[in-house]
Amino acid sequence: EEIELGGYPHYMIKEIMGQPESLRTCFRGRVDTRDGRVVLGGLTGLSRELVRAKRVALIGQGTAFHAGLIGEYLFEDLAKIPARAHYASELRYRNPIIEEGTVVVAVSQSGETADTLAAIAEAKDRGALALGAVNVVGSSIPRETDAGVYLRVGPEIGVASTKAFVGQVAVLTMMALYMGKRRYLSQADLDGYLAELERIPDHVAEIVQQSDHIKEAVEDVVTRDNWLFLGRGYNYPVALEGALKLKEISYIHAEGMPAAEMKHGPIALIDEGMPVVFVATGGSQYSKVISNIEEVKARGGRVLAVADEGDTQIDRYADHVFRVPPVSEPLQPLLTVVPLQLLAYHAAVLRGHDVDKPRNLAKSVTVE
Ligand code: G6P
Repeated sequence: EEIELGGYPHYMIKEIMGQPESLRTCFRGRVDTRDGRVVLGGLTGLSRELVRAKRVALIGQGTAFHAGLIGEYLFEDLAKIPARAHYASELRYRNPIIEEGTVVVAVSQSGETADTLAAIAEAKDRGALALGAVNVVGSSIPRETDAGVYLRVGPEIGVASTKAFVGQVAVLTMMALYMGKRRYLSQADLDGYLAELERIPDHVAEIVQQSDHIKEAVEDVVTRDNWLFLGRGYNYPVALEGALKLKEISYIHAEGMPAAEMKHGPIALIDEGMPVVFVATGGSQYSKVISNIEEVKARGGRVLAVADEGDTQIDRYADHVFRVPPVSEPLQPLLTVVPLQLLAYHAAVLRGHDVDKPRNLAKSVTVE
């Protein structure tokens, strides 16, 4: 086991730190900046179906559902196709509008989640084209779907999913660009995204270097039992994922939500010292997020913010700032989730928990 851990105390931190390499493997041969295209061998022969698709339904559970929520934004933004993320477990029992012309994308690390498998069967019965975005090669979901794209991030051992999440988001980004190119996305825009994608692994390498800094920030708030995670747009699902990571391994109660939603109720929870984590990277909604931060500060909350490198304004409002290189909004989740993974990891270790074996959780849930 010591050899497999490669000097790290836990698989989770090894997998977080290894994300630059996992992403390089995920993108290799697929992000082709020279010819300006996305190459997804698994989708070959499906161009017609993808061009004509009426809608996309993304399905998954847990972390995979959060990746699906980001997919919702990606497919609508980049491929201009109505998209919706569903908990696989819910989709099945609600007579969903899934028919011929619907592309279902099943997102999963293990490829064995029973809820997701059951939803795939239901979607196929209704005439949908079922695709997989799965990590484990040869698992059940790739066998049950019509086609798919593997994450290629390597085996994930830590129970709290980290590199599989960024792999899922990376694959959904490539799928949306692949489909977008066949629909409304211009070559110039595609070229821009490809150039940015190619640099994402290096950016992640830079972010993980802040691990010690993130640990120090966590020490400041780790005794608190209720946290909020807030973000807008593409970073709203990232806030959900940050809260889930913290719950899973540190057993701290955390809630994620769209930043604007705070004032419609949860603001009542904020008191002296309550930790509130903001994903506050640059983009169309930055100034709105800053006002949300001011509301938290006015009530004595402790603000931890993920912000762009070079954003000096944020230092005036946040107690602790974690930096990410600035990228286009659709690509931000690939970076902004990383400080939140480290935050959850350090919180759990500081509280003395076994992060690789969290209580009550299984790596893969094969019952409905
Ligand atoms: C379990 C795991 C979660 C995971 C979810 C979906 O609940 O504990 O970490 O996100 O299943 O798993 P999958 O293998 O389908 O991604």
